[in-house]
Amino acid sequence: MRRKLVAANWKMNGDTALVSGLLSGFLEAELGAKCDVAIFAPTIFLPQVAATLKESKIRWGGQNSAAYLKGAYTGETSSVMLKECGCQYVLVGHSERRALFGDTNEICGVKTELALSEGLIPVVCVGETLEQREANQTMDIVREQLRAVIDQVGIDALASCVIAYEPVWAIGTGVTASPDQAQAVHADIRAYVAEQRASVAEKIQILYGGSVTAGTAQELFGMPDVDGGLVGGASLKLSEFVTICHSAE
Ligand code: PGA
Repeated sequence: MRRKLVAANWKMNGDTALVSGLLSGFLEAELGAKCDVAIFAPTIFLPQVAATLKESKIRWGGQNSAAYLKGAYTGETSSVMLKECGCQYVLVGHSERRALFGDTNEICGVKTELALSEGLIPVVCVGETLEQREANQTMDIVREQLRAVIDQVGIDALASCVIAYEPVWAIGTGVTASPDQAQAVHADIRAYVAEQRASVAEKIQILYGGSVTAGTAQELFGMPDVDGGLVGGASLKLSEFVTICHSAE
């Protein structure tokens, strides 16, 4: 039985006060005890997150990492630096990075490799646009995105990653994929991995992301191949995120 993981993706939101309020609430709710919980905070807040959560069961991670380990790359943050901030995870290839910051499939492969080399768990985000879904290309797109990562790190290393299926049309739109829609893609992702290594397919956590709310989480997380969620907007609201975590327990 795979353990569930609920991850908060705060994106570029929050300030010291909000971060402090959310973290105290998460600690009070004892998140992380019955399912894995990870907070993806803006880089600047990671030391604050680390200091607050270090004695807890809640984990944290970066929202992005550089495609290089060190050097003259102004403005970038490497996997080494995330690791030093106590991160256990890092997001790779979130659709906003792919659409706005030029993270190609190949770059996502490199970022995954570097994250693994530093002992981080890469959460590899994949997903189709509405146009691609309507053209029946969902699985081709998702498989292509995964293939680039597998080509770079090898199928066995995928066992040390998490996959997040995030249909672009569901992110921040209030339109959640239905549990059946999510399950269909998750099952297909698992089948794709199983074609290459059954043991990895059995073990790997596949999260759903895209407008997950307290109202939709339970049903989504109840699907056989949905191992938790990557939650954006709703993770900035204390009681809502706590409820979502409880839905995974
Ligand atoms: P959302 O974001 O929950 O606000 O749709 C999810 C994500 O982008 O990870």
